[in-house]
Amino acid sequence: MTDAIPPVQLQTDRPNMARMYDYALGGKNNFAADRAAVERLFSLSPENKYVPLANRRFLGRAVDFAARQGITQYLDLGAGLPSMGNVHEVAKLVRPEARVAYVDNDPVVAAHARALLTSADATVRVVQEDVRDPAKVLGHPDVVQLIDFGRPVAVLLVSLLHGITDEEDPAGLVRAFTEVTAPGSYLILSHLTRDGHPADIVHSKEEVFARSNTVFRYRARAEIEAYFAGFDLVEPGLTPVTDWRSEGTEESAADADPDLAAAGSWWLGGVALKAG
Ligand SMILES: C[S@@+](CC[C@H](N)C(=O)[O-])C[C@H]1O[C@@H](n2cnc3c(N)ncnc32)[C@H](O)[C@@H]1O
Repeated sequence: MTDAIPPVQLQTDRPNMARMYDYALGGKNNFAADRAAVERLFSLSPENKYVPLANRRFLGRAVDFAARQGITQYLDLGAGLPSMGNVHEVAKLVRPEARVAYVDNDPVVAAHARALLTSADATVRVVQEDVRDPAKVLGHPDVVQLIDFGRPVAVLLVSLLHGITDEEDPAGLVRAFTEVTAPGSYLILSHLTRDGHPADIVHSKEEVFARSNTVFRYRARAEIEAYFAGFDLVEPGLTPVTDWRSEGTEESAADADPDLAAAGSWWLGGVALKAG
């Protein structure tokens, strides 16, 4: 069944999730079709230019938080192209011994990530696998070698599950990746939400993404909250990503661009602990 998951093809004439995100974050690993799709999104409402940035900064704050709780192992599912604040860079600032397994099914992501992120001391590895096949990811030799599931680990599903359809059972995937973790582990998750946004704008965004290589599901808070089953959300809970532990950061600065806060409301993000 899972053997039927087709590999991602390098199609430069079709917008691609990883490359669109890269372009929106100011990266150079993208093509004209990716840039045109992102510019179309930007034109839909003024805050859209900040939507990926708001999520990426949440990722950084969440990893910093996990590292400060003592986490030294990270399984980053849907890792994306190397960008600002890569997981191992943030984690190693606090825990120099941190080990990170990046997982992505996109060959362009895997190639760039291997070139830029992997370290000679083998504490960082890039695994090109599809998260819709958890057994394959968890059984991959690099994951097995790097991550000791007998000890706490942070599992990251940041800006990924909106690309998984209901039929592909996102909750089941979260379960598969978290039930193998030890007590004291953390789940770091963000997801695009339609809550609080006009249906016509959500529809226009979905139309842009429909031409890309992946689906985009803007889910409701209750659906996203359910992904944390078996874990306890740490304060401040599941929030717009710009509100998550952002005190004293650019998000909370008095002169912060109001479009940034508006961008944060397109995501719900949270960090949760697996109790002992
Ligand atoms: C929007 S990027 C997010 C990158 C990073 N997690 C972040 O939040 O900054 C989503 C990434 O998930 C990857 N992805 C999408 N579906 C996937 C799947 N089924 N298996 C593995 N990776 C996937 C894409 O290739 C892309 O690089």
